Amino acid sequence: MPKVTFLPMNQCFEAREGESILDVAINNDVPLMHACGGFCACTTCHVKVKSGLPGLSVIEDEEQERLERADGMTSESRLGCQARVHGDVTVEIVNQD
Ligand code: FES
Repeated sequence: MPKVTFLPMNQCFEAREGESILDVAINNDVPLMHACGGFCACTTCHVKVKSGLPGLSVIEDEEQERLERADGMTSESRLGCQARVHGDVTVEIVNQD
């Protein structure tokens, strides 16, 4: 099973193949915000991929367009609700409570 490590808390959890980063977070009580409920309609689930980018699904146009409105977007940015896990990955949560 692929593993997702969340920063800055440095917590690591197993993911089911194809599960979204947001789903992994919700299932393990990781505080990844998701104001729109995971429908690519906000940017609160913004994460930065610190390692393992090839282990994520390819970014789609809808996600890319949404991300371009996110504060602090970089080439490492993904939306947690849209990025699906296929290999080990480390992500930093951008929006903290
Ligand atoms: S939860 Fe709103 S875009 Fe991901």
